[in-house]
Amino acid sequence: MSGTAQVQAQSRAVAAIDDPILVVRDVHKHFGGIKASNGVDLEVGRREIAGLIGPNGSGKSTLFSLVAGTVAPDRGQIRFDGHDIAGRKAYTIARLGLARTFQIPALFDNMTVTENLLAAAAEGQWDGARQRADETLALLHLEAVAGNRASDLSGGQQKLLEFGRVIMRRASLILLDEVTAGVHPNIRKIILEAIARLRKEGTSFFVIEHDMEMVRNVCDRIIVMDSGRVVTSGTFDDIVRNSEVMQTYLGRPQ
Ligand SMILES: Nc1ncnc2c1ncn2[C@@H]1O[C@H](COP(=O)(O)OP(=O)(O)OP(=O)(O)O)[C@@H](O)[C@H]1O
Ligand SMILES: [Mg+2]
Repeated sequence: MSGTAQVQAQSRAVAAIDDPILVVRDVHKHFGGIKASNGVDLEVGRREIAGLIGPNGSGKSTLFSLVAGTVAPDRGQIRFDGHDIAGRKAYTIARLGLARTFQIPALFDNMTVTENLLAAAAEGQWDGARQRADETLALLHLEAVAGNRASDLSGGQQKLLEFGRVIMRRASLILLDEVTAGVHPNIRKIILEAIARLRKEGTSFFVIEHDMEMVRNVCDRIIVMDSGRVVTSGTFDDIVRNSEVMQTYLGRPQ
């Protein structure tokens, strides 16, 4: 597919989403000479689980930082749940109902698992926080380590806790940055079940993933980035049928 045809295919896919919770239009972010976002256009539907894939350095995590407000765009529009959020402060965007995990978990190392969950609630909605912490511990099978310091958890448990902190915020859109990377299949299963349960309750998800099996099993729709741009989007079958995309994605070291 030519570049123009890909852009047209993307436009059609974008137009098909009636009720987007997130709309990104022509977003640019340069770091010195690096165009981490070079005109990103995409949408995420309400109650959708949208996947974001692309080679290392293609701008996926940067896009999450732009949406979550930890990095400000040079230009472009970002609308979340009807609000213009481009360049707004991260805590303002979080209060509107958007939450993200970091590729490297950002936990309070010296606090316990439960305290980490409660701290996340304190940053957002405190009502019913203690009960929600207990429910989250159960949902993520973390009860046995509830009183342990975050720094004493295994890498997989730290990923679970990072996800738990996001759950505590009761967000309407959750951005997950490689939340299952490097974790044991048992923990991966716990994460997938939690995603399914939250989606049933109305949460939308935007997930960065390198594991194509996970992408196939979890995502309703997949958005492909390369060199700071969206190159196409579609169902898993659409994407794997697109040999140019597969070449772009699989033809580079992951
Ligand atoms: N704060 C920053 N300062 C300078 N350059 C940055 C910064 N953040 C990202 N970059 C650069 O922007 C580009 C995109 O990085 P990003 O982390 O968004 O990629 P990614 O698609 O998430 O990659 P990966 O799959 O390896 O996680 C890279 O070249 C990276 O080095
Ligand atoms: Mg990344």
